[in-house]
Amino acid sequence: MAKTKIAYYCSNCGHEEPKWVGKCNACGQWNTFTEEVISSKKGDGILPRKLISHERPQKIKDITLGTEERIDIKLGEVNRILGGGLVKGSLVLLGGEPGIGKSTLILQMALMLNNTVLYVSGEESVKQIKLRAERIGVNNDKCYLLSETSLENILTQFDNVKPDIVVVDSVQTIATDIIDSAPGSVSQVRECTSRLLQYAKLNAVPVFLIGHITKDGNIAGPKVLEHIVDTVLQFEGDMHNNYRILRSKKNRFGSTSELGIFEMLSDGLREILNPSKVLLSEYDDTLSGQAVAATVDGGRSFLIEVQALVSTAAYGTPQRSATGFDTRRLNMLLAVLEKRANFKISAKDVFLNIAGGIKVNDPAIDLAVIAAILSSSADIAVSSKFCFAGEIGLSGEVRPVARIEQRISEAEKLGFQKIFISKYNKDIDVKNRNIDVVVISKIEEFLRSLFA
Ligand code: TYD
Ligand code: MG
Repeated sequence: MAKTKIAYYCSNCGHEEPKWVGKCNACGQWNTFTEEVISSKKGDGILPRKLISHERPQKIKDITLGTEERIDIKLGEVNRILGGGLVKGSLVLLGGEPGIGKSTLILQMALMLNNTVLYVSGEESVKQIKLRAERIGVNNDKCYLLSETSLENILTQFDNVKPDIVVVDSVQTIATDIIDSAPGSVSQVRECTSRLLQYAKLNAVPVFLIGHITKDGNIAGPKVLEHIVDTVLQFEGDMHNNYRILRSKKNRFGSTSELGIFEMLSDGLREILNPSKVLLSEYDDTLSGQAVAATVDGGRSFLIEVQALVSTAAYGTPQRSATGFDTRRLNMLLAVLEKRANFKISAKDVFLNIAGGIKVNDPAIDLAVIAAILSSSADIAVSSKFCFAGEIGLSGEVRPVARIEQRISEAEKLGFQKIFISKYNKDIDVKNRNIDVVVISKIEEFLRSLFA
């Protein structure tokens, strides 16, 4: 009989203990240990972990740098986020909520390539994938599909097909024979990922892993997964909206401050090269409660629309709610308005929304938030030719924000007439511009100039 071994793993960090413990010694989390059965059917479960044999230490000055060989994956936005193409032998993890479009994105890439791609799915049958491909409407005779969950069988097929790129959808559904625990468990995910890493490095074949995400937005499985892979991409967006954002959270071969915006259409994902144009509704000049912010995310600047509704509270406690914006920050801005600008808002309900279902963390949109709130409260529209970029401090000062030139240029390019920025943003070339740059230092001042 095969000897079975039971081990306990922390579901947060992957730390192993021989006995169950309440608190993880490695990461300090409570109640994260789960029991997993590990049997040693083949060998002793000890895997050849040596990636490159006969390697000797080399002097750093003797190492010559070639440029990494990269594959152009045809989707311009993804290429850019990866740092200029997919590096051969790299392991890329793509995470995202269910139904966000991870499989669609990767399949679309696989169908556009001239390289041989092996798409392994542990979730769907090949027919289902074919149906999706029909929807996307591209055919490609270099794209192989395989519906399989056993890692050993998958590795055998790699030898048969000899793909240039491998896709595994998803890492939580595949399992190796040498470990008895269920697919998706810490030990399975860890083992499968390191075996795929070994394959990628030895054969110089890039591997895409699709990963599920937990309720709190982390990639399911241990954090070690994120440590093992070279690149972590995150696909996010609002389910009720068509816009999706692809970011890189970790990238060993490029910058992490990159971001791409896509739109989910009935025939697949479309890259959005000019986000401001789609995110701004061409609104009527007469509507109150709207203001445009010049934001920067992932190295790109784009304009977004902030919408606010201020009304008299129907109940004793006024409601404050925000979509796409931090509610705590909204509360802070309201307190600043009340205290520094003498604006009575404590008995009002305030609702805030960022149009397009986009989430924004950029503090530079504060000024637009304030403008939208004031506009809704006074029921006077902000001119649709105005744009805002400034952070509000606790004393009501308008603080400078990063990359202001880039923001001004974007607003100028889209035909805005005025941009409100902080007085403390230094060294800005305001001349030779087709846009009027209004500098303000305090929130009181802003109130006066906004509707002037
Ligand atoms: P999918 O790629 O299966 O998501 P994930 O792999 O992240 O779970 O995408 C699922 C959603 O995308 C599904 O609800 C249908 C929608 N969709 C489109 O709108 N257009 C398309 O062309 C395709 C293929 C899917
Ligand atoms: Mg999927």
